[in-house]
Amino acid sequence: MSLEGKHILLGVTGSIAAYKAAVLCRLLKTAGAEVKVVMTPLAREFITPLTMATLSKNPIAVEFYNPENGDWHSHIAMGEWADCMLIAPATANTIAKMANGIADNLLLTTYLSARGRVVVAPAMDCDMFAHPATQHNIEILRSRGVTIIESPEGELASGLRGKGRMAEPEEIREAVESLLSEKKKSLQGKRFVVTAGATIEAIDPVRFISNHSTGKMGYAIAGELAARGAEVRLVSGRTSLPVPDGVERIDVLSAEEMYNAAVAAFADADGAVMCAAVADYTPAEVSKVKIKKSDDDMYIRLKRTHDIATELGKVKGNRILVGFALETDDETVHAESKLATKNFDFIVLNSLRDKGAGFGVDTNKVSLIDRSSREDLPLMSKRDVAVRIADRIETILNR
Ligand code: C5P
Repeated sequence: MSLEGKHILLGVTGSIAAYKAAVLCRLLKTAGAEVKVVMTPLAREFITPLTMATLSKNPIAVEFYNPENGDWHSHIAMGEWADCMLIAPATANTIAKMANGIADNLLLTTYLSARGRVVVAPAMDCDMFAHPATQHNIEILRSRGVTIIESPEGELASGLRGKGRMAEPEEIREAVESLLSEKKKSLQGKRFVVTAGATIEAIDPVRFISNHSTGKMGYAIAGELAARGAEVRLVSGRTSLPVPDGVERIDVLSAEEMYNAAVAAFADADGAVMCAAVADYTPAEVSKVKIKKSDDDMYIRLKRTHDIATELGKVKGNRILVGFALETDDETVHAESKLATKNFDFIVLNSLRDKGAGFGVDTNKVSLIDRSSREDLPLMSKRDVAVRIADRIETILNR
């Protein structure tokens, strides 16, 4: 039972997804946690305190005090008790109040007193979720160390489709478990640079050349290295992905900007993982004004960009350098040649011919190739691939 002995304070707010809080409560209990529940007054309209009290085997706190006997519900004691305060579902209203330190109900005062980790699973309609105010508030919470459980795309209670629905209880339990499981800080004191995402090469103020990379693999690697205690600088092309906990993101657009940022960050690093899909060519001249169309065909002269990995490979010494190869043909030959020319310690090969591998998807099927061995991994989540890559980095560091 992975949550054995952990104290989880489940905060329930007034969202239609509150019915899922009952399942979540049971899953936490089955995993061994002790669960107490605090609800906002409106949450009672969606799920009864009796249900939550029966499932959690603890009385439910909603008001600051019991009006019948004046018994005080101490938010400070609850905040101290909780190893994790998990707010699921969290409405736009509660998230906004949390971001602004508003404390007009017991759930919010408890949040402000919480000493342990805080996890928030947003639940709202897609337009509310996409609203810049909500997104800004979520970013504020994230920057203060709150773990946000991504809302998946899907059908909403309103009948609309989009992002905003609460993640499934099983996924929330897993996230809490991995947050509370004492990960060995095996990379404490190490610094890593990770490049991720696509670069954007301007043709004129309106058009650009880019590629399909979304950065998911690089972000997963940055998150895994940081979870193991490393200091991670993530040099990232444009993406809508959230910054993983504990990672410093350096935003870049072009290959030139990525080159400058990666070289600077590598100066005092112990290693780098080159995950970005960097443009190999960029327009030789960038027009200052929007290029007008004519009846003729058009040619854009391209010049080579720096190969960032090759440059880092030249100065790496005994530091670690990991690369990626995304191939469509002669995969092994190309990967082995890159391993040598770019001076990688090992290269992660993925083929666009494999189903479930490559751009945008959450899974990947890779082979880890070094100078003396090759490991073919099955199709797995990008998070698990990141774990395998981080394990291998540790093995090299401990040699
Ligand atoms: O040669 P190719 O682009 O296939 O090599 C892929 C590897 O090299 C990846 O690790 C990628 O991040 C890195 N790379 C780079 N700078 C470039 C091109 C590729 O760091 N300009």
